[in-house]
Amino acid sequence: MNPPVSRAASRHTIRQAGEALARLPEPDKEAQVHSMALIRLIVDDIAGAGGQISFARYMELALFAPGLGYYSAGSQKFGASGDFVTAPEISPLFSRCLARQTAEVLENLGGGDVLEVGAGSGIMAADLLAGLAELGTLPDRYFLLELSADLRQRQRETLARMVPQLLDRVQWLDSLPEGGFCGVVLANELLDALPVHLFRTEAGGLRERCVGWQDGRFQWCSRDVLDTALARRFEVLADGLPEGYTSELNLAAGGWIGSVASMLQAGVVLLIDYGFPRHEYYHPQRDRGTLMCHYRHRAHDDPFVYPGLQDITAHVDFTAVAESAVDAGLDVLGYNTQGLFLLANGITELAQSGDEREQLRLAQQVRTLTLPGDMGELFKVMALGRGYDAPLRGFALQDLRGKL
Ligand SMILES: C[S@@+](CC[C@H](N)C(=O)[O-])C[C@H]1O[C@@H](n2cnc3c(N)ncnc32)[C@H](O)[C@@H]1O
Repeated sequence: MNPPVSRAASRHTIRQAGEALARLPEPDKEAQVHSMALIRLIVDDIAGAGGQISFARYMELALFAPGLGYYSAGSQKFGASGDFVTAPEISPLFSRCLARQTAEVLENLGGGDVLEVGAGSGIMAADLLAGLAELGTLPDRYFLLELSADLRQRQRETLARMVPQLLDRVQWLDSLPEGGFCGVVLANELLDALPVHLFRTEAGGLRERCVGWQDGRFQWCSRDVLDTALARRFEVLADGLPEGYTSELNLAAGGWIGSVASMLQAGVVLLIDYGFPRHEYYHPQRDRGTLMCHYRHRAHDDPFVYPGLQDITAHVDFTAVAESAVDAGLDVLGYNTQGLFLLANGITELAQSGDEREQLRLAQQVRTLTLPGDMGELFKVMALGRGYDAPLRGFALQDLRGKL
């Protein structure tokens, strides 16, 4: 079995994407039938759109088509028997650190709720609630907003198994609250799962990369950028980049931040994800963008493989996130690497528990989460807020807002 892969693997680390593709394990019959059903749905969508759809539409359907998309349907996804691991799946210490940061904010606000968006298996919610209970700072309510019905069910099972005594505080939402939310909003690896548009600089000008269907396969194609707002955004990003440069733009992240800003009355939003400031993201050498796919702990770069069975993701442009936040009237309260955020929240001290064997295990988890060569540096934490001006402990060792 391949060693567990976090979704942090960047294209630079995957030199042999072709080899990785060749080594992908074959899905079983049932999974292949499932994937075929999704392929038919996307092919119909392409036909309905006149022969091609934006890559963002392809990614939306591949991940979220009801009952068929990767996140909407029932495959394992997270953990050793899934496709990738995330920080809360690697170690409860991650969520315990977030609990410390959350507790500080709730104490300063004099109480409030927690809202976790895109909660995966529910393990972060369970460990966070347990951590908050230990700190004596339980929120009034712990809301979970999750697009996938299958994952919602899994979250219920995880919470019922791990923190049955706290279940009465947990509530699932179908959409963001209308307004007047006070407390802490958390999202780990949410923004990287939102559908992205792709662009490529060509001799005749900028083109949007699209998806068509020909000879029984999905094919890349391109078109002039139809949407004028999108064209303007692409042009700004592509200014000065060499011909043949391909990258992504995550319009959905800005929309999501706008919606969060509309409901937030007072409190802090903590976003944790892999990504960079804009000048690093659209670096001339990153000329193939950051689009990545994960299947059974193999990372590669072909989004047309096994639709509905593999994850598709792109890194986050944190400068764009900060700009969207400011445009929506939020303050950017902090920006740090995951490693230093966790260290500032006392991860090493939290790891000093249990017997010697347990401490060795926890020390290994600390290394995975914090070392620069692992998840410590590529993953970032950004804090946004409204009506909150106390310092945040996670940014006490370092605050990189000046680099955005
Ligand atoms: C990469 S997974 C991360 C899961 C979890 N946070 C973790 O760290 O293990 C992305 C999660 O976001 C959810 N998701 C994606 N887009 C969403 C949206 N617009 N609203 C709510 N959940 C969303 C997916 O269904 C999935 O649970």
